[in-house]
Amino acid sequence: MDYKSLKTNIKNNSDIYLVGVFTDMKLQHLGKSVSQSNVKHAKNCFDKNNFTGEIGDHRTIDDFENNTQILFFGLGKKEKYSPITLSKSIRDIMHKIKKTNAVKISINIQNIISKSSNITIELLVNYLEDSFYKYEFKKPKDTSRLKLCNLVSNKVIPNKIFIKNISYGKAIANGIKLAKDLGNTPPNICNPTFLSKEATKLKKINNKLKITILDEQKMKSLGMGSLLSVSQGSKQPAKLVTIEYMPLKNKQPIVLVGKGITFDTGGISLKPSPNMDEMKFDMSGAGSVLGTMSALAEMNIKKNVVGVIACAENMPGSQATRPGDVVTSMSGITIEILNTDAEGRLVLCDALTYSKKFNPKYVLDMATLTGACLVGLGKYPSGLFSNSNELADLIKKSADKTGDRVWQLPLYDDYFKELKTNFADIQNIGGRYGGAITAAAFLAKFTDDVKWAHLDIAGTAWEVGENKGSTGRPVSLLIDFVLSN
Ligand code: BES
Ligand code: MN
Ligand code: ZN
Repeated sequence: MDYKSLKTNIKNNSDIYLVGVFTDMKLQHLGKSVSQSNVKHAKNCFDKNNFTGEIGDHRTIDDFENNTQILFFGLGKKEKYSPITLSKSIRDIMHKIKKTNAVKISINIQNIISKSSNITIELLVNYLEDSFYKYEFKKPKDTSRLKLCNLVSNKVIPNKIFIKNISYGKAIANGIKLAKDLGNTPPNICNPTFLSKEATKLKKINNKLKITILDEQKMKSLGMGSLLSVSQGSKQPAKLVTIEYMPLKNKQPIVLVGKGITFDTGGISLKPSPNMDEMKFDMSGAGSVLGTMSALAEMNIKKNVVGVIACAENMPGSQATRPGDVVTSMSGITIEILNTDAEGRLVLCDALTYSKKFNPKYVLDMATLTGACLVGLGKYPSGLFSNSNELADLIKKSADKTGDRVWQLPLYDDYFKELKTNFADIQNIGGRYGGAITAAAFLAKFTDDVKWAHLDIAGTAWEVGENKGSTGRPVSLLIDFVLSN
């Protein structure tokens, strides 16, 4: 969709003019967004039809002066206004608009854009674009009829800023789309080799990107015995892919590490059958890294960032790891594998060790790591763990700005004791309780003094039910984090 900036008093010849309205101030802020006679019209309509302004509620009036319709839609309570509530109301209203014949729409952004609530044009454009997302197994046809969206405001937005806002908003939406598409792609297609090819494709966006694919032989020579123990039960070879975006000289990069298990059967510690198909989403951490790198490259930002994705398929083949096997990780730490279903940490620990070669300023890893995180926090925030409070606070800030929520959990020394074993340096599972934390503690063993944070996205990377599918989280958080730090 194209975007234009339009001043309020200019006649806008779109099919629908959208005006967002809060519950408690339905009429006051119509002020300059619509003409005086239309305000009267609206008041009549609101009173008669009991328009509440709640998210999901909407009313249309005819605007005969402009030969269009004005669609008032609820933004919810003003005190609660945030990226979260806006994304819900945009998704809802666009769902309805898509069913009409509208080709051109206008949105009054006067009430919507709000510095104090962290709502920018970029964010709005991202939500609008995202509302068109649909996974297509076969190559997508252009489904949306909507071609143009005027952003109406009584302040003139300088052209240069407007163009940048729109292109950033679209780049973020494209990154989220890539992450969603990768997550939704069936696991017989989206395997480690497929992901490595998708990484290579990113070069088309920006040829400053440098893609490196390590195959199993190379990983063996680097001593990545832990990562390789996960793929050895599968016919699909593991791949460790790095995506370097380093436009600046002599600046430490932010390194983003993603868990890329393209299917997690559990291995010999086989998972139960119900819902096992959802384990195609177990590569969502890697998908979020690729989506983020794609967006940053499209924005052509001046920041150094490196993506590292650890891709493998966890299968119970005849060569598969047995519970009780001991492997040596790239760091030299030996690991007793007591549960082959705790495979995410096994691929990530070698990826974390490998990422030190980039001399990172911060390392963030994203992983659908534990069912325990989902049990503990539910489906709304990602679990956040860090060895640096400074870094954790920066991540929380980006979460607030983007509505891509996180909740921090502790990493007390006590948890580390649960990883002790008589047969190796550490074992790959903890005790019965606090599974998301013992998993994070395992990873922390491989970070040394690098400032590191781990996001457990087991509950947030995909939705179930009628909207089943990848969410593209935490791409928006990661993009904001890189842009801000
Ligand atoms: N990919 C799963 C975690 C998962 C499960 C995410 C369900 C979302 C929904 C991970 O590899 C796993 O199997 N973790 C185990 C760890 C356990 C064996 C210590 C788990 O959570 O049960
Ligand atoms: Mn598993
Ligand atoms: Zn897994």
